[in-house]
Amino acid sequence: MAIFLDTSKIKEVEKYHKMGIIRGVTTNPTIMLKDGVSGGMAGIKQCSIEIAKMISPYPLSVEVTNNDPKGMLDQARELAQWADNINVKITIHGPNGELDNLAVIHDLETKHNVRVNVTAMMSAQQCLLAAMAGASYVSIFCGRVNNMGYNACEELAKLRQLLDQFSLPAQIIAASTREVLNVVEWLNAGAHIVTVLPSFLEGMLVHPYSKETVKMFLDDAVKL
Ligand code: E4P
Repeated sequence: MAIFLDTSKIKEVEKYHKMGIIRGVTTNPTIMLKDGVSGGMAGIKQCSIEIAKMISPYPLSVEVTNNDPKGMLDQARELAQWADNINVKITIHGPNGELDNLAVIHDLETKHNVRVNVTAMMSAQQCLLAAMAGASYVSIFCGRVNNMGYNACEELAKLRQLLDQFSLPAQIIAASTREVLNVVEWLNAGAHIVTVLPSFLEGMLVHPYSKETVKMFLDDAVKL
């Protein structure tokens, strides 16, 4: 899997999908707001369907917009119907630590054939429980983990070891990238996938010394 793109900008998805270097896209309400998506659920739907169609069969993650258990379940089922390759993002718990979410996630995965990306997690132990509940993807916000003074690479290594040890099929998404370095670092540490800001892909790709070398080839070709 390796690289997902963390954006709702259609042009950015198109640009990197054409290069063949992304294997999925992730969004959340904050990203959509920042990227200029508007119009409430209709706007989210339009943007999501466009991206899902463009990257099919690769997955697109779209997040539910409320935290009431029945509302989450119904909305998740609706989002998943927009396209076959839409996965639904649900946070590990509510804003005050409400515990309803895992039961909803378990139902969606086991009874409703909806693939869930459990999000907003900051530790291996949260991700382990989400994986036990049946989540297809577990998203750990590695940049935020590091910001709090913990070590994201250590969490990733522990988590990967546990998923492998107990044959849990969840894929680890390392999210919340802060530096270009994070991509390879987090994949090396044990993430199956890193979800990357578009600007970081350019940072991974372009190297000043490569530029100079290409210029040398082109200049010398003229002189031949
Ligand atoms: C993951 O899927 C999230 O969309 C995202 O990476 C969160 O990153 P942030 O910490 O920059 O908000």
